[in-house]
Order: sequence, then structure tokens, then C-alpha cells
Amino acid sequence: MTALPSLPPVIAHRGASGHAPENSLAALDKAAALGATWVEFDVRLSADAVPVVHHDKTLARTGGRPDEVAALAWSELAQVDIGRTLNPAWTGERLPCLAQVVERLGALGLGANVELKPHPGQAEETARIALEWIGRHWPEHLPQPLISSFSTPALEAAARVAPDLPRGYLAERLPENWAAEAARLGCVSVHLGWEELEQAAAEAVTSGGYRLAIWTVNDPEVARRCRRWGADSIITDYPGQIIAALKHEPA
Ligand code: G3P
Ligand code: MG
Repeated sequence: MTALPSLPPVIAHRGASGHAPENSLAALDKAAALGATWVEFDVRLSADAVPVVHHDKTLARTGGRPDEVAALAWSELAQVDIGRTLNPAWTGERLPCLAQVVERLGALGLGANVELKPHPGQAEETARIALEWIGRHWPEHLPQPLISSFSTPALEAAARVAPDLPRGYLAERLPENWAAEAARLGCVSVHLGWEELEQAAAEAVTSGGYRLAIWTVNDPEVARRCRRWGADSIITDYPGQIIAALKHEPA
């Protein structure tokens, strides 16, 4: 297993996505401005196998058009406005590729939780292409990225392609076989949804020797409770508010 990385108490979800278009360069800027030191973002592939940063399978919600991300070449995706549908004030904010995001992380000094969000049937390819790219281009002055996924085949591929990068086991709730799976996949962390989180599950993870990250926590009281239960990191759309909420909590 890779040595346990230290994770920050707050990770900005899809950038500071409560304040700017999710998974945009502006959301990275906003996260840094609000005091976040790490961000989480989602990676999938364009039709021509360029790793791009986008959560949904389609552009309907973010770009106001029905196309699947996996059906468009990067040259087409690069033109997609992911700001206007959210708020006309964000018109002109474009869907970024992984290279653009990593360049901005380097400039801002932000660490990252890279979530592999493969299009159905593309888990292995997504992990391989994204992690080979990261292996060649990740800025030396940043901490190693933490690679997470809901997709078991993506984590298996990550372990093969980039065995030295730390991996996170991502789930809505802790499944019964989580310990065997997290160990088999060589994960260093477990990332759980807050809504069904119970103290016993949080303690099982931390006493099992894993870092614990909880998503997507936008309520300061829930964030404090998760920390009291042992969470290392709170993944949130509102990093400024959650940083402030945790200020006086014990580390
Ligand atoms: O990685 C934590 C969180 O982002 C997982 O859910 O759907 O927001 O990617 P989702
Ligand atoms: Mg995500």
C-alpha cells in the first residue's frame, strides 16, 4: 500500500462549485481565493480520448445541449460554454480539459482529488489515459494527486498504470465488503456520502487505517459532526464556509 498521504480538512468539490460553474477554471480560482488548499474534480474522455473535466455523461445540465461528452472531440468540447446555463454572468466559461486544469492547479498551488468518472464501458481506458498523462505532467511542486472512483475497473486500472499514486475507494455508503475491496484495490482512503453516514462506519474506516473523506457536505454542523467522527477531509461546494466552521474544532 502507498504511504498514507495527509489530506486537508477541506476539499473544494468540483472546485468551489457553490460559487462558480462546477469543474471550471473559475471554480479553481474561487476555491483558492476562499482558502482551499485542495480541490476535487471529475475526469472523463472526449471522443478523441482527451481527458476532460466534466461531471455528467451529457452536456444537458451544464452546457444546455443534449450531446454526450464521449461523443464529441476535444476541439468541439473546448467550445462548450458551461457558465451561461448556470448564470448569464458566467457566460464564456468553457469546459476545460485535464491539461488546462492541472496547469491552473500548478499556478494556484492547489492539491487535487482526481475522480475518474468514466463513460460506461470506458473505465480502463479513462484511467489509463488520464493517469499516464498525469504521470508525465503533474507539477512537481504539488502534492501527489489522490485518485478516486466509484468504478472498480477504473481503480484496478489505476493500480496497474500508476501504482504509486494514492487511490481512494468511493461509495455512497460503506458496503459490507468494503475492507476487502479497499485492501485489494490498494486504497489509502475511503470517500463516503454524508447522508447515510453513521458513526460506526466512520470509525470502522479510520480504525482500519484509512483516511476518511466525506462528500458533499455544505452544512457547517454536518461538517463538524463528520470531523468529530474522525473524517480527515470534508468535500464541499462552499470551502470558505466550511473552513470557517471547522476553525475552532480540534484537528
Ligand atoms: O468525489 C466525491 C464526489 O464528487 C462524488 O460524487 O457525483 O459529485 O462526483 P459526485
Ligand atoms: Mg466527483
